[in-house]
Amino acid sequence: MNILVLGGGGREHAMAWKAAQSKEAECIYCAPGNPGMAQLDKAICVSVDGDDFSAVAVFIKEKNIGMVLVGPEAPLAAGIVNALQSTGAMVFGPCKAAARLEASKSFSKEFMARHNIPTAPYKAFTDAAEAKAYVEEVGVPLVVKADGLAAGKGVTVALDKATALKAIDDAMVTGVFGDAGNQIIIEGFLEGEEASILAFADGKTVIPMASSQDHKPAFDGDKGPNTGGMGAYSPAPVVTDALMAEIQKTVLQPCIDGMATEGSPYVGVLYAGLMITKDGPKVVEFNCRFGDPETQVVLPRLTSDLVEIVRACCTGTLDQIALEYTSDACATVVMASEGYPGSYPKGCAITGINEAEADGTAQVFHAGTREEGGELLTSGGRVLAVTALGATLRETLERAYDGIEKISFEGAQYRKDIGQKAFKHL
Ligand code: AMP
Ligand code: GLY
Repeated sequence: MNILVLGGGGREHAMAWKAAQSKEAECIYCAPGNPGMAQLDKAICVSVDGDDFSAVAVFIKEKNIGMVLVGPEAPLAAGIVNALQSTGAMVFGPCKAAARLEASKSFSKEFMARHNIPTAPYKAFTDAAEAKAYVEEVGVPLVVKADGLAAGKGVTVALDKATALKAIDDAMVTGVFGDAGNQIIIEGFLEGEEASILAFADGKTVIPMASSQDHKPAFDGDKGPNTGGMGAYSPAPVVTDALMAEIQKTVLQPCIDGMATEGSPYVGVLYAGLMITKDGPKVVEFNCRFGDPETQVVLPRLTSDLVEIVRACCTGTLDQIALEYTSDACATVVMASEGYPGSYPKGCAITGINEAEADGTAQVFHAGTREEGGELLTSGGRVLAVTALGATLRETLERAYDGIEKISFEGAQYRKDIGQKAFKHL
């Protein structure tokens, strides 16, 4: 079967890499892909615009594509699954109505309230003055969130009142998130440790993947501005077996059942961003896709065939599938451009990836790279996700950081403390 992967970041590199290992995969087209994806066995990068659904439909026919793996949320929220249904290809992801779980925070919060899914209490606002009055009434700490998609930047955790009021102004008065900030929600501050649970869903059955933990702040010790994610590891020992069973029972299954009852069965990857509080797991957010960089640590541990799992999701037969994993731990450390998540230079020469991968201990997923004249250059904020497996988390981290030491580009920044939170549980 020919497969089309939409996107060109580290997550999509990991998805294409895993799909390429399937016996069923013939050609893997990556639109637009990246230089790392271009080197994969069976892969070809093509310049089809993934947000132009008619162009994607034409490409599906032309290349006889049987399966489409959608990386980012934007095309899912815009209805790519609905738009491509008539092509007959299995387009893996939720339909537009189901993708609202990520695309609209107010939809997601109301949905959780309707189905008793544990999450922070909240209130939605379309008027800045009312939102500010609410802050005065309830006090801090609290969290201000733009309602729509804001590329991971729409959330402000406000520990003081001035920060909360500024976040309201930024979203609703200045309009820094565009239309995504016309409506905001203000929710209670949750205390605890975060974990990411990604799950496969076929509309009825939902099976969690191995647990993982992201590192969103830019700097060591969880300091600095929030980023797309600076590193991850799996499994996350904060998620014990008992806790995973509780998450399945109180979060994942009620979510899938609720979407089905409401007439928008959820097919695809359901990503639950959780806070593990002293009162149990609570949902911080739902995303409608694989996480980045969580995918880069979960898929390398998955020993089952991704293409078979995706087919089961798309055909409603996930109940016949069991997911298998290596017992090895996996960690990924993101190397980012100087200044990320603020402005950063592009076009810096990258060296050392072959050396890092030479003895097979590190695996480098490309996130923001491009090739010019045979030279590999930086082209994004997050540039590489340097990944390793190992018998223990400690060994895994050593391997990933050994890999990083061999790679260089001007101004490269990365966190030195990926995975450290795990050790207090181990
Ligand atoms: P989100 O984009 O919704 O994942 O939010 C970004 C980050 O803000 C999360 O990873 C959390 O660290 C933090 N956050 C979001 N909501 C809350 C909350 N209710 N309580 C505490 N922290 C939160
Ligand atoms: N790692 C956070 C996300 O994918 O949204």
